Amino acid sequence: MTTHHLAIIGGDGVGPEVTAQALKVLDAAEQRFGFSTTRTEYDLGGRRYLASGEVLPDSVMAELDEADAILLGAVGTPEVPPGVLERGLLLKLRFAFDQFVNLRPVKLLPGVPTPIAGLTPDRCDMVIVRENTEGMYVGAGGSLFHGTGAEVATQESLNTRHGVERVIRDAFARAQNRRNHLTLVHKTNVLNFAGDLWMRTFTEVGEADFPDVERDYVHVDAMCLYMVTTPERFDVVVTDNLFGDIVTDLGAAVQGGLGLAASGNLNPTGAHPSMFEPVHGSAPDIAGKGWANPVAAVLSLSMALDHLDHADAARAVEDAAAEVLTTMTAMGGPDMGGSTDELGDRIAAIVAG
Ligand code: NAI
Ligand code: MG
Repeated sequence: MTTHHLAIIGGDGVGPEVTAQALKVLDAAEQRFGFSTTRTEYDLGGRRYLASGEVLPDSVMAELDEADAILLGAVGTPEVPPGVLERGLLLKLRFAFDQFVNLRPVKLLPGVPTPIAGLTPDRCDMVIVRENTEGMYVGAGGSLFHGTGAEVATQESLNTRHGVERVIRDAFARAQNRRNHLTLVHKTNVLNFAGDLWMRTFTEVGEADFPDVERDYVHVDAMCLYMVTTPERFDVVVTDNLFGDIVTDLGAAVQGGLGLAASGNLNPTGAHPSMFEPVHGSAPDIAGKGWANPVAAVLSLSMALDHLDHADAARAVEDAAAEVLTTMTAMGGPDMGGSTDELGDRIAAIVAG
């Protein structure tokens, strides 16, 4: 029997609550599909930082690196200054483990209320591939005369041929496994240096190695329009780190909200573990109430299973979550039609068969 070693970081607020549901569903998937996991839980996040000052000790990094995959809930508490956990934990893991693909499906599931009037599931099924290790997020820049009237701040976007090409290749390969359509999203008309590198790489790689995949290009501002008006235009979308961060939140809104949005930070080479997490944060406003929608965490588990080569289990988990969604009366809060725990039980029961 295949055994995978998983590192579990529940984190703060609703993070541990929704992660517990994903693990229940994982138990059911293991039983039904005949594989097993060993799991090590790590106490990381705002609580640990406030208690000990530690964000991500090197010894923990080394242990996480041994895992086959990492499941993360959410980190952050209101008392922790902004940036400490984002840069010190989330970005550190992405960069150190070279998780160069941030994968975010945007799929409207049946029965889920979307703010887009008249949108139906058949018109909204895309995957956004966000570059995850370069661009504006590398922390290049600086400031001078801080706090004075003469203050100067720069923040540079770093783009390498290596980094751009590998994420574009990954996106083309995903398109081949879907509807053979790939859209590059950028702002080539204004960001002429980075845009030129992205566009040339996109065209060259597509022409040479993926001639069967239809290529499309959309400026990022127009993307915000089309995602709302004509999401059926998109199959796989590839874009840079900052644009990807922004358009995927729009995607989360279109697909019915944060309670449903899943993501994977992938190292497709397998040199280091990939990390799967719901898009939402620790939701301190509803922590402890049993009101958090566990579906985003469960769909993130489905992505992890797919990554671990259990496509059948991944599909069963996604289908079970979709089935339970049709019975839910709200996508979060006191009126969901069941507590976080009850919904997790229901999804797990369907997966168990
Ligand atoms: P948030 O995503 O935690 O919450 C935004 C709103 O959505 C809140 O009203 C919350 O109640 C609701 N919400 C979130 N998840 C939900 C769920 N599963 N079911 C039902 N409702 C849900 O974002 P916010 O409030 O900006 O950040 C809270 C904390 O989380 C901060 O400390 C922030 O830094 C952190 N955060 C962490 C992330 C991560 O670990 N990847 C991502 C985003 C924020
Ligand atoms: Mg974001």
